[in-house]
Amino acid sequence: MAQSIPQTAKQWNVVGQDGIASLKLSEQPVPELGDSQVLVKLHGASLNYRDLVVAQGTYPWATIPNIIPGSDGAGTVLAIGKHVTRFSPGDNVVTALNPKLIGGSFTKSLSDFGLGASLDGTFRSIGAFDEQGLVPMPKGLSFTEAATLSCAGVSAWNALFGLPGRPLSAGHWVLTQGTGGVSIFCVQFAKAVGARVIATTSSKEKAKLLEKLGADHVINYRETPDWGVRAKELTGGVGVDFVVEVAGPVTMKQSVESIGYDGVMVVMGSVGSGPADKEMPGLLDTWMNLFTARGIWAGTRLQLEDMGRAIEANLEKLRPVVDPKVFKLEQLKEAYEYLSSGKHQGNVCIEIS
Ligand SMILES: NC(=O)c1ccc[n+]([C@@H]2O[C@H](COP(=O)([O-])OP(=O)(O)OC[C@H]3O[C@@H](n4cnc5c(N)ncnc54)[C@H](OP(=O)(O)O)[C@@H]3O)[C@@H](O)[C@H]2O)c1
Repeated sequence: MAQSIPQTAKQWNVVGQDGIASLKLSEQPVPELGDSQVLVKLHGASLNYRDLVVAQGTYPWATIPNIIPGSDGAGTVLAIGKHVTRFSPGDNVVTALNPKLIGGSFTKSLSDFGLGASLDGTFRSIGAFDEQGLVPMPKGLSFTEAATLSCAGVSAWNALFGLPGRPLSAGHWVLTQGTGGVSIFCVQFAKAVGARVIATTSSKEKAKLLEKLGADHVINYRETPDWGVRAKELTGGVGVDFVVEVAGPVTMKQSVESIGYDGVMVVMGSVGSGPADKEMPGLLDTWMNLFTARGIWAGTRLQLEDMGRAIEANLEKLRPVVDPKVFKLEQLKEAYEYLSSGKHQGNVCIEIS
């Protein structure tokens, strides 16, 4: 059934670089549809640490002033441009963070295209998106659950399965850090393939979620500052095969302590607060400990599609974890505050009516 297209849509913009104070809500005409674009009624969106950094003006990749923030969204196709072949009105879709990053290797120019930073994003009720930057929404997920896949989900998938010739497999040990969006997906993916997980976190309450998701060992990094040494002990002294480094300078040294020979350290963020470890590792450590350090930037559309199929086929194990506190689009500032507080577990989501 053809859906009526409203004249106007609600949208947030990042006006300035004052963090949450820069977020401005307004009602604007629905964007005009380009020939290769798809008009989407967004029903769900999800926040990432990246959104906080974009609003502060410290995002290290391309940004443009007054951007509509948010990379993660899920919704229903309202209309398609005349050259669109991949979608039809009524289809449910998920946004890809980078509509140009379809597959293959990353290139410098690709970093110029990021929803919510240099391309208008998902914190709005209706958006026009490049058809190449959308994927079918996995069946069985709610819109908020599906929205978490665009950044946190695909980045975790890329971290564990994206290094050619070296995917995570059954029996490997994986070390994850904290209970944010990326790390929780890593725990789920690792357990689903039969790997063993050592997860760190800051509190007993958050440890319960990690245990529920099947983490084999949980270490409180506040109570055990040398958690990397402890993690290596837990592997029988061999060390872990994968470290997913999201916390940055505060955790790097312990991450190196935890890793085993021929391990992979995926370096992907710096969410940890506090002073950097004085003995921050350097490149020589990769030689002295014989591990590979790999930086990543989200994931490709093909990885997003692969992950969507895996989730659809394994909903019991891989249903995205949405924090119980879900916000309305109009409450975006409160959602940013909540994410910033670090009280959340998994993904902080927005319902869009
Ligand atoms: N490179 C990429 O492609 C890419 C993609 C996605 C995200 N990222 C980056 O990855 C990081 C995580 O993103 P996110 O969206 O998952 O963040 P998030 O949801 O905001 O996660 C924050 C969580 O990190 C944990 N944390 C904070 N300090 C920690 C520490 N010292 N040690 C261990 N855990 C700590 C806390 O969990 P506990 O309280 O349980 O410890 C906190 O709740 C960010 O830096 C983000 O920019 C990068």
